[in-house]
Amino acid sequence: MTAQYRVTVSVNGRSCEREVEPRLLLSDFLRHDLGLTGTHVGCEHGVCGACTVLLDGQPVRSCLMLAVQVDGHEVTTVEGLAPGPNELHPLQQAFWESHGLQCGFCTPGFLMTLVPFLEENPKPTEDEVRHALSGNLCRCTGYQHIVDAVLLAAERKGTE
Ligand code: FES
Ligand code: FES
Repeated sequence: MTAQYRVTVSVNGRSCEREVEPRLLLSDFLRHDLGLTGTHVGCEHGVCGACTVLLDGQPVRSCLMLAVQVDGHEVTTVEGLAPGPNELHPLQQAFWESHGLQCGFCTPGFLMTLVPFLEENPKPTEDEVRHALSGNLCRCTGYQHIVDAVLLAAERKGTE
């Protein structure tokens, strides 16, 4: 039998403790062990960005990390973005209004990449937004609605 390791991690502000195999991917841990299926898996080798989550506030590809690596850390998934059950995160709201959701499969990865980007760059140019999302693949359109959504969220933040 494969050895199991105890992982204690804060996920979306809640402490979780699980026994896991050392080879278990973080993406599988989130989806299968914790039931957080908002994190999607596309390429499974670090290219598409669909599996992006925050590790201690920084975006990481959860398909390239092992669950044991997040022991003692904080993970945020797309389920942890909204402040409440009937509320959206401001970037989710802007995605909705700008039709940035598109196919939906890639959306969690876009959000988890762009939320920390906007925190670090509250007034980005369009070029900066396009550069920030260049690591997240979308095959359905030309990214325009996603760019519009990020610029709308930034504009609103600037007028708060
Ligand atoms: S599934 Fe992780 S980068 Fe594509
Ligand atoms: S948003 Fe998923 S393929 Fe375009």
